[in-house]
Amino acid sequence: MKGNITLTMIKPTAMEKGYAGKIITRVLEAGFKLKAMKMLQLTKSQAMEFYGIHTGKPFYDDLVKYMSSGPIIAAILEKENAVEEYRKLIGSTNPEKAEKGTIRYDYGTNIQANAVHGSDSDENAIIESNFFFSHLERLK
Ligand code: CMP
Repeated sequence: MKGNITLTMIKPTAMEKGYAGKIITRVLEAGFKLKAMKMLQLTKSQAMEFYGIHTGKPFYDDLVKYMSSGPIIAAILEKENAVEEYRKLIGSTNPEKAEKGTIRYDYGTNIQANAVHGSDSDENAIIESNFFFSHLERLK
C-alpha cells in the first residue's frame, strides 16, 4: 500500500527570495494537507544527518553547507500517494530540466538551490518526518 505522507523543505534560496508563501499556496491548491510545519535553521551536523544517504557523493559537502546557510521551512504533507504526487508537482531535481509549471521550474535557481526538497520514498518520508517533528507537533 502506498503511504500518504511526504516531507518537504523550502530551501534557503527560495526563502531568501520570498517564495515561501507562493510555494505553500501551490502545494495546498494541489490538494495536499499540512500535517506539521516549522521554520528553522539547520546546523551543519543536522544537515549532515538529514542528507546522510548522500554521504560521499561529490555534491554532499556543498549541499550540507548550503542547507545550513539560512532559514528553511520543513513540513509534513498529506495526500493519497503523497511521495509520487509531490514529486510530480515539484518536477525534476535540476530546475533546468524540470517540466514547465512545476515548482522547481518556477522557483528553482540551480540543482542545489532547487526551491524544495521532497522525500523519494515512503520509507524516507517517515524517517525525514521523524527527523523534524515529534508526535506533539503533528495534527492527527
Ligand atoms: P533534494 O530533493 O533536496 O535531495 C538531495 C539534493 O541533492 C537534491 O535535492 C539536490 O539539491 C542535490 N543534488 C542532487 N544531485 C546533485 C548534483 N548532481 N549536483 C548538485 N546537487 C545535487
